[in-house]
Amino acid sequence: MKALVLAGGKGTRLRPLTHTSAKQLVPVANRPVLYYGLEAIRDAGVTQVGVIIGDTGREVREAVGDGSAFGLEITYIPQAAPLGLAHCVLIAQEFLAEDPFVMYLGDNFLVGGITDLVDAFRGSGHDAQLLLTKVAEPQFYGVAELGPSGEIVSLEEKPAHPRSDLAIVGVYIFSPAIHDAVRAIRPSARGELEITDAVTWLIDNGYSVHSHMVSGYWRDTGRLQDMLECNRIVLEDIEPRIRGTVDGASEVSGRVVVEAGASVRGSVIRGPAVIGAGARISGSYIGPYTSIGDGCVVEDAEVEYAIVCEESTVRGVSRLAYSLIGRNVEVVRAQGMPNALQLMVGDHSRVQVRA
Ligand code: G1P
Repeated sequence: MKALVLAGGKGTRLRPLTHTSAKQLVPVANRPVLYYGLEAIRDAGVTQVGVIIGDTGREVREAVGDGSAFGLEITYIPQAAPLGLAHCVLIAQEFLAEDPFVMYLGDNFLVGGITDLVDAFRGSGHDAQLLLTKVAEPQFYGVAELGPSGEIVSLEEKPAHPRSDLAIVGVYIFSPAIHDAVRAIRPSARGELEITDAVTWLIDNGYSVHSHMVSGYWRDTGRLQDMLECNRIVLEDIEPRIRGTVDGASEVSGRVVVEAGASVRGSVIRGPAVIGAGARISGSYIGPYTSIGDGCVVEDAEVEYAIVCEESTVRGVSRLAYSLIGRNVEVVRAQGMPNALQLMVGDHSRVQVRA
């Protein structure tokens, strides 16, 4: 068994962060979301991993390296343009050869790992295994319609009128039969080779396609609220540890990680929360479900239910919540007159203010 991890794509729904960074590297509890997938693959006993990279390939390579830090052997496979998930399989054919493989979308987050799924597939004789889960807004996903005995009746990619509320989770397992399928299909209306079409081709040509309901927590982290939710879930289980310094005037409660070199002075930290290495928190309140990245400065501010990436500053602001702040960002109180919002905000940003 091999794995194919998809870490290309544009990440349009997380702009402007994805103008400069890969969506798979947005941090969840201060670690790129992609790391959780790689660890799940390793835990399932799969070590040979192909990683599809696009425009942000350099960054992904820097973050993941040769995979040895994860106990994996990684082969990078550049994709010239985001031409669809089935296109990724097409260009990975040489790497995948005749092995069955797990295809893992690098921005997907699945609690509980994939070991059971991989084990179930081995020796099952199936040619494809899809994971499905009920979602509130199926129109944003691939959607499966099941028949009375659980067989897949239809698969549609982001349908305007979904036939069910069962979304296709971005973790698939395939036999080598998928290679014939991806060669046989044609690009969809949005110009991509869709994996849903390739699986439909398998079904139409008599291959065995199995579906499995996900019981645990799953999110595609393509949107802000999903990123914040994943951050919440991971922080809920974090092992508390204080490696940095917390002064006597501070109060730390709940599950809190303060990494090495971080300092907390005159502040209240109410976990679950993580304060990254070298961060400086003073005169501030850090509320539940907050990740403060390495090297950040939070002064005279309140931050809650938020992800603040590395080297950013939040000063004199009360209160910042439901927010995702990129790297090297400054969110500070304006000085002097006029009493106005002063913004310098990147393309495709979103700023919500209380009037
Ligand atoms: C992709 C797939 C879709 C699937 C989703 C899960 O969509 O095309 O079928 O439901 O991943 O994350 P994307 O999020 O890449 O647009």
